[in-house]
Amino acid sequence: PRKIIIDTDPGQDDAVAILLALASPEDLDVLGVVAVAGNVPLPLTQKNTRIVCELAGFPETKVFAGCDAPMQRKLITAEHVHGSTGLDGPEMADPVMTLQDQHGVDFIIETLRAEPAGTVTLCPLGPLTNIGTAFKNAPDIVEKVQEIVLMGGGYFEQGNITPAAEFNIYVDPEAADIVMKSGVPITIMPLDVTHKALTTKARVDKFRAMGTKVGDMVAAWTDFFERFDKEKYGSEGAPLHDPTVIAYLIQPDLFQGRHINVEIETKSELTLGVTVADWWGVSGREPNATFMKDIDADGFFDLLATRLARL
Ligand code: BDR
Ligand code: CA
Repeated sequence: PRKIIIDTDPGQDDAVAILLALASPEDLDVLGVVAVAGNVPLPLTQKNTRIVCELAGFPETKVFAGCDAPMQRKLITAEHVHGSTGLDGPEMADPVMTLQDQHGVDFIIETLRAEPAGTVTLCPLGPLTNIGTAFKNAPDIVEKVQEIVLMGGGYFEQGNITPAAEFNIYVDPEAADIVMKSGVPITIMPLDVTHKALTTKARVDKFRAMGTKVGDMVAAWTDFFERFDKEKYGSEGAPLHDPTVIAYLIQPDLFQGRHINVEIETKSELTLGVTVADWWGVSGREPNATFMKDIDADGFFDLLATRLARL
């Protein structure tokens, strides 16, 4: 199995991504899960991460708290989508499993230093603060990373937090800039992909039909965060963003995109946090990321249903 570190800000879609990873031990070895401030502040994202690991039946998972604010900016959160806890929807008890004492950024640095070069994949599902900080403080670890597979940005589907920018990149554009310029192989799941992965009724019914606690929770989370897209945009479901990252590691042929140059706008007020994706290859700049555009959405939801049923 491929060794991964999940970096996350749960968030209902983050929660489903964590469940998918923990349900897939033949493909993925989860070395640790690091929480970051994003959808909600850090005290909630680290707690939510533990709730999800316990729900999955893996309370021995190492969970860390990372950075509580972006590298240079004030934190922007997304309670309007995810609710005041970040995991609104079902009733949930407080977690019993403990949080690791070590800072999440130190865990990332220490783990990458200890593992053979090119053997650990980073999976950021929130703002890139922890990874950007780790790369800045310990540049020697950059060459140790096998790949970064992240959810963020957009090209044809531009923004969801501003007209121009996607939430994860917008919250910490300086961190995203460090990551994009790092030289590590990067695969990006932008809004172009995730806006095609909608939680339609038929798909959510499959989670409900599992008749398990996990199935019920996933359906209840989905019901909650869907209301935002349904009420605001009249769409038939919400985009299930973050699990696309984990699905890619398990079944890469579900996705299609291009290897192109991607840079981050860090200066403009109007377009702060844009992923400037050179889709048409007009800049002459070196490709640094595989920017996905299409997803086999039915195949993706089938994978989720099959794997989550194991928990
Ligand atoms: C991203 O922002 C968060 O609200 C979601 O969890 C996802 O990671 C989508 O823009
Ligand atoms: Ca997220």
